[in-house]
Amino acid sequence: MNNDSPIGIFDSGFGGLTVLKAINDVNPSESTVYIGDSKRYPYGPRKPEEIKRFAVEISQSLIDDYRVKMIVIACNTASAAALNHLKAQFDIPIIGVIAPGVKAALSVTNSKSIGVIGTVTTISSGAYQIEFASKDSDVDLHALACPGFVEFVERGDTTSDQVHVLAERLLAPFATFKIDTLLLGCTHYPFLARTISDVVGRDVILVSSADETAFEVDRVLKENSLAASEDNLGKRLYLSSGDPEEFAKIGRTLLGEPISDVKVWKFKS
Ligand code: DGL
Repeated sequence: MNNDSPIGIFDSGFGGLTVLKAINDVNPSESTVYIGDSKRYPYGPRKPEEIKRFAVEISQSLIDDYRVKMIVIACNTASAAALNHLKAQFDIPIIGVIAPGVKAALSVTNSKSIGVIGTVTTISSGAYQIEFASKDSDVDLHALACPGFVEFVERGDTTSDQVHVLAERLLAPFATFKIDTLLLGCTHYPFLARTISDVVGRDVILVSSADETAFEVDRVLKENSLAASEDNLGKRLYLSSGDPEEFAKIGRTLLGEPISDVKVWKFKS
């Protein structure tokens, strides 16, 4: 492992690509290895203990098989369930997406009436409620779980009538909350930004954790003297526990960028 070793990034599927893109944009010299655990998605309805087990297995593989110098948990559900556990278990820097998301939301809100949406496990973990309260006790937070959104994104469907109908049903409570900012507390949701914005109204600012996470990666790498040399040409490796061709195809459509050479990642448990 050295400064030009890759950063490991993982998610239950395509969602973490939103974070990967920001990391690649902010830090183009950094190489990245992305694992999408597509075969076991969605993580959202699973028990925290099971998600923790998946997160440990993926992190161990990133360290042993790909010699990563840092890990980004590009999944809110896994960040809520496993960040502290992974930090205690592994001795490389590990960051999640919850604290960066909260930072991003606080930087744009005026009214401090903020909504956050995520998977059932993320919202019921209380991770956002705790993080917001620790940063600004004046925030009036409205947290809602949105079961079903992830499945639409994993099928590459981000704008159909069906996903629109689901969004109208799930997001209806925000009509009465008068929020000015909506934090997308699931890395899959930025792919649904247009649909979500249609439903909550254009005057609500949608915020994702992606950019702030990329800045945090930059900061942590520098702090640990782990930044890649500036002339390093960042390489991209994609792995999926599902069908690699499907991953490349849907991933390319969602991201609007080519995703080439996806390899199979096999889980043991
Ligand atoms: N992208 C994951 C997150 O941010 C989605 C979890 C899932 O697979 O349900 O929570």
